[in-house]
Amino acid sequence: MNLDYENVVERVLCSGEEISERVKSVARDIEKYYADSDKKLLLLGILKGSVVFMADLMKELKLPLEVDFMKLSSYGKGAVSTGNIVIKAGLEKKDLSGYNVLIVEDILDTGNTLYWLVDYLKREHGAQDIKICTLLDKPDRREKPIFVDFGCFSIPDEFVIGYGLDYNELYRDLPYVGVLKREVYE
Ligand code: PRP
Repeated sequence: MNLDYENVVERVLCSGEEISERVKSVARDIEKYYADSDKKLLLLGILKGSVVFMADLMKELKLPLEVDFMKLSSYGKGAVSTGNIVIKAGLEKKDLSGYNVLIVEDILDTGNTLYWLVDYLKREHGAQDIKICTLLDKPDRREKPIFVDFGCFSIPDEFVIGYGLDYNELYRDLPYVGVLKREVYE
């Protein structure tokens, strides 16, 4: 373990063990929800933050499923996302009308990204059934009426890193979610 690398973590918010338990539990909920559906299931991961959660979740799900990814960026994003979303990498599949789409995110913050994405998937890809699965939810920060269907942790408004989430592109590889020390970014 590189102690200097992890020295930026003030405290662990969700341990690897806690995340693993929640992923299993949420996977069971997802299986129940889609068990009787005739449609195919598409897990849609939003890069880059979702990559660790997506990998663990898809391994846990005992359902036939396909995966796809999009990379989105919020134009003008500083610490907070705006409603101006840019597609950096788009969907491979064009027609989603035959799919149950489960968006997989690392974090739901203001909701600007997902509010735009849900509308986009309906408008441009014909998606009809869209649900949201997120590792972390910061409900206090919400600006748009977006609700989590399958969520692992509801967390306070703190700067979190690890398990996919970055600070200046680092720390996505940490196997837990930690709070970043204030002195690192202030
Ligand atoms: C994060 C996260 C969501 C979005 C949530 O992505 O993965 O996509 O921000 O914020 P919102 O609810 O306020 O819109 P980010 O732009 O940090 O990119 P990354 O996943 O590549 O780190």
